[in-house]
Amino acid sequence: MTTIFQAISNSAKRIKVAIDTKDIGYSQEQNASGETQLQLDIQCDLIIEEELSKMPSIHTIASEEKEHPMVLHPKGRFYVAFDPLDGSSLIDVNLSVGSIFGIYDGAFESSRIVAACYVVYGPRVEMVFAEEGKARLYLLQEGEFEMVKEMRMEEKGKINAPGGTQQNWPTYHKTMIDGLFNEGYRLRYSGGMVPDLHQILLKKGGLFSYPGTSDKPEGKLRKLFEVFPFAYIFECAGGAAIDGKGRLLELDTRDVHDTAPCFFGSHYEIETVRRCYAHT
Ligand code: F6P
Repeated sequence: MTTIFQAISNSAKRIKVAIDTKDIGYSQEQNASGETQLQLDIQCDLIIEEELSKMPSIHTIASEEKEHPMVLHPKGRFYVAFDPLDGSSLIDVNLSVGSIFGIYDGAFESSRIVAACYVVYGPRVEMVFAEEGKARLYLLQEGEFEMVKEMRMEEKGKINAPGGTQQNWPTYHKTMIDGLFNEGYRLRYSGGMVPDLHQILLKKGGLFSYPGTSDKPEGKLRKLFEVFPFAYIFECAGGAAIDGKGRLLELDTRDVHDTAPCFFGSHYEIETVRRCYAHT
């Protein structure tokens, strides 16, 4: 796992440079030499592919940017799924974005996730790496990721981060979200899964929800690259993650790009979701 941590750290440092210095979303434009520039999220995908390829322990990778999984080392053990630049449309407006990684042992299945990680590219670059029941926060300082602390959530938080378009929410979901606001929860939602969940983890509680909606009954967020890694991280940090009823980490996956409705938070809020969704 140390080598995978290293590969992710190296990717994150290179992605930070790409974000700071390269084309920011003007895809298909030509650079000074007349070459077509790659979109930033494709550049980030290639950076991660290159760094992970150096690790013989990695059997296969799957990326949000690639249609199919790619075998790297047939004798390797780990399967790594990643979203190279989640929330990339927020780059144009200079909000925080992130990379997400799920590390699976032997196959892309929720029950086989053995570590997960995300990197936040904000005013500072931070990384959270979770394994063996612990989620640790690292800060990029002078070119290296230094461990800051172990992250532990409390029983209940104050933040409500409701994803999706309200007019497409089921009525019971709206009632639940309104109920939390009526209890005093504060709205905190940037539209980037990584910074929005990072905030809940660092503030030690709250709820992030992305429900099934009338236009997307299976939700928007992808199981292998977004949902399972964050479910694993929340559980390691003492929180919980469900699809409304059951643990996200017990869901099946048929296709690498499958999505699921998802709720991440501290225990009080997740119990609130369970009660609301029990009748559905
Ligand atoms: O996966 C893409 C993403 O940008 C996530 O980072 C974010 O949580 C979500 O979509 C936001 O979706 P919406 O704008 O529908 O709330």
